[in-house]
Amino acid sequence: TKGAAMVTAVASRVQAQRKQIDKVLALFRLTREQLVGIRDKMRVELEYGLKRDTHPLATVKMLPTYVCGMPDGTEKGKFLALDLGGTNFRVLLVKIRSGRRSVRMYNKIFTIPLEIMQGTGEELFDHIVQCIADFLDYMGLKGAQLPLGFTFSFPCRQASIDKGTLIEWTKGFKATDCEGEDVVDMLREAIKRRNEFDLDIVAVVNDTVGTMMTCGYEDRNCEVGLIAGTGSNMCYMEEMRNIELVEGDEGKMCINTEWGGFGDNGCLDDIRTQYDKEVDEGSLNPGKQRYEKMTSGMYLGEIVRQILIDLTKQGLLFRGQISERLRTRGIFETKFLSQIESDRLALLQVRKILQQLGLDSTCEDSIVVKEVCGAVSRRAAELYGAGLAAIVEKRREDQGFEHLKITVGVDGTLYKLHPHFSRILQETVKELAPRCDVTFMLSEDGSGKGAALITAVAKRLQQARRQ
Ligand code: GLC
Repeated sequence: TKGAAMVTAVASRVQAQRKQIDKVLALFRLTREQLVGIRDKMRVELEYGLKRDTHPLATVKMLPTYVCGMPDGTEKGKFLALDLGGTNFRVLLVKIRSGRRSVRMYNKIFTIPLEIMQGTGEELFDHIVQCIADFLDYMGLKGAQLPLGFTFSFPCRQASIDKGTLIEWTKGFKATDCEGEDVVDMLREAIKRRNEFDLDIVAVVNDTVGTMMTCGYEDRNCEVGLIAGTGSNMCYMEEMRNIELVEGDEGKMCINTEWGGFGDNGCLDDIRTQYDKEVDEGSLNPGKQRYEKMTSGMYLGEIVRQILIDLTKQGLLFRGQISERLRTRGIFETKFLSQIESDRLALLQVRKILQQLGLDSTCEDSIVVKEVCGAVSRRAAELYGAGLAAIVEKRREDQGFEHLKITVGVDGTLYKLHPHFSRILQETVKELAPRCDVTFMLSEDGSGKGAALITAVAKRLQQARRQ
């Protein structure tokens, strides 16, 4: 009959559509062999970055940080810390009490308007100093001469703990006249221009390093710092004898890997999809930070958006209509992805979230959107896992251990907010580095507190040298 024929036609159309959707999702599935391959490539790049000859061209920059030791508990005092480069800009006052290993913090969040992030360097640093002034005012500390630690979460070449030349901006920053400049000098000059207070800038540190330090304060096994947030990066303690760029063979130094640049030589091309390429091309730094663009909070939502646009073009979503909203960059922030993927949420609620984002969806649409988000974030967590497996395996081999027990300090919105990311990351590391027993330690406010701790250690050493 006619009715039966229609039902069959609809059913086969639905089936065909399902096939098309599955085809797209399959691009994001990584086999075990692929993940092992990624782990091994990461290992090669880490070694390149450490060697003097290959370092200049290495995509994983392996930057020495001049942080050589963990706090020993004797640090104390009041410190200012700045935290620039994550979701928020913050100014903090950190009080460290010796002996009891207790830290008290007060902080204020400031926004950095887009036109300042992408204006001139002078404007950016003047704005930062303005925020410090507000904070000192607010805390009743005007005129206090405090030591300051600066968490600056971008790749910097360091020649000491208090010098850091910005190599290049990453994530959403693009202020002019900063690349190739020492950011500590830029901050000092901005403070001078304002001519209102004096601060003693003791240390500039990456957020990964701050995170490792904060966790290391409580757990001596913590030798890795991981950020899964707006950006993607990792640092770890390396044997001095392996760091060819720095004199000396004794002890260890923390290396900021800047692993976000992994893949910039094309070594991940076999797993990059057309959507990854579109996200890269639409970014502030095309061709750069390819691994970061497949793994971090600033870009995951963009990958999702590119897939949704394509599925819509194919007539598989949103009744084939690409809305203005869907064309808008940055609509899927980490917090929305996290909500959409929460298992506690009914589909109706997923539809509500999409509606809030300005996307009108049917029930079927919302199922597809959720699947897309799942595929993208699963791949990100697995890629993180492969990268981390490379580092813990290296540490195990370098120390000649059969088994290694190691703690990883972690911070970042993606890790903290996403309902599945941390679990998948941990499972992947276990699978790819079976001889390492990895404990993940969430760092509360790691990057700011860490900058203060590093400043405290640096101050202690400075004073010891002077005596
Ligand atoms: C970017 C920065 C890096 C930082 C990471 C996480 O990858 O280049 O320095 O650690 O984001 O914030």
